[in-house]
Amino acid sequence: MSKQILIMAGDGIGPEIVAEAIKVLDVAKTRFNLDITTDEALVGGAAYDVHGDPLPEESLDKARAADAILFGAIGGPKWDQIERDKRPERGLLRLRSSLGLFANLRPAILFPQLASASTLKPEVVSGLDILIVRELTGGIYFGQPRGIREENGERVGFNTDVYSESEIRRIGKVAFELAMARGKRLCSVDKANVLEVTELWKEVINELAKDYPEVEVSHMYVDNAAMQLVRAPKQFDVLVTGNLFGDILSDEAAMLTGSIGMLPSASLDQDRKGMYEPCHGSAPDIAGKGMANPLATILSLAMLLRYSLERGDVADAIEAAVEAVLEQGLRTADIFADGCRKVSTAEMGDAVAAALRG
Ligand code: NAD
Ligand code: IPM
Ligand code: MN
Repeated sequence: MSKQILIMAGDGIGPEIVAEAIKVLDVAKTRFNLDITTDEALVGGAAYDVHGDPLPEESLDKARAADAILFGAIGGPKWDQIERDKRPERGLLRLRSSLGLFANLRPAILFPQLASASTLKPEVVSGLDILIVRELTGGIYFGQPRGIREENGERVGFNTDVYSESEIRRIGKVAFELAMARGKRLCSVDKANVLEVTELWKEVINELAKDYPEVEVSHMYVDNAAMQLVRAPKQFDVLVTGNLFGDILSDEAAMLTGSIGMLPSASLDQDRKGMYEPCHGSAPDIAGKGMANPLATILSLAMLLRYSLERGDVADAIEAAVEAVLEQGLRTADIFADGCRKVSTAEMGDAVAAALRG
């Protein structure tokens, strides 16, 4: 049966990096005889400019109907001053929330060829393979009340961090299942020494742990976790945490892999329907310059094929093609090192497509 992928390129480098992933998808379709059709929808600033809404009804309908979504990035200085509800970031958050994409998987894997691309010593990062499981539709990102109000003659900004037991349990289950399928070690990251919301988080994770006796569970305060990630990142297997901590720790973990341009992600609902996007943003500083690294997006496409289309074989082949290109010494500027060949966004995409073609 034909599968439908919705492409939401977004803003800044979004269209540039997504174009490269589409090249790779086209080759994968031919090589593996995949019955996949694609459609496109506007999101973020690009959608606001046309419809006055960062997630127009038509885009959301298409997203609901698709089997999976490949997302680029949204946002940029052009839209930073408009009314908050209309900003590109709100479009992305509404998309995640409307589709129930509560489980965000962010794998930080170091390709051996990039051991010297990280700002950390090669021995600290070599062999790194950790998975951050970030809760994506709750916590302080969505909690009410929120806003900016006048109080005693000044402005007061406020947000609410809130998680229900059921929200913690469902993301916890995903993390335990993923830990079972790999190193069987799970570290839950919280700030239970200060915040009640994460005290409950810790309790619920401990309750769940009884159902997974084979998984070695640990708990770490987020400040320590941030430090441990750069001190000795290989101590971790799977990390599970809330929306905000997961956002911050995954950007930090990205640098262990050489660049934020290397970190893919999958955002899944209960039925593993999902949206796939690089962890980085729209990089306004390099947009339009042909400098962006498209590999995080290409690796996100691999995750799409693995998780939503159940084609782990195709995902493996795409990942192998990325590794082959790195082995050839091709590097975008963000992962460049002496002795390598600096390539543009499009040259990198072409090279991965060629490697996949075989
Ligand atoms: P960013 O991730 O866009 O950029 C941070 C730094 O990393 C920049 O120097 C950028 O050039 C670099 N970088 C990012 N992706 C890269 C790539 N593929 N190749 C090479 N270098 C890359 O974060 P920011 O600057 O804090 O935010 C810019 C905009 O992106 C904001 O509007 C923000 O809200 C938005 N944003 C969107 C997403 C998303 O769409 N999922 C994620 C993060 C930030
Ligand atoms: C990410 C981004 C988003 C987030 C923003 C753009 C809303 O930083 O996907 O990591 O904070 O979740
Ligand atoms: Mn982020």
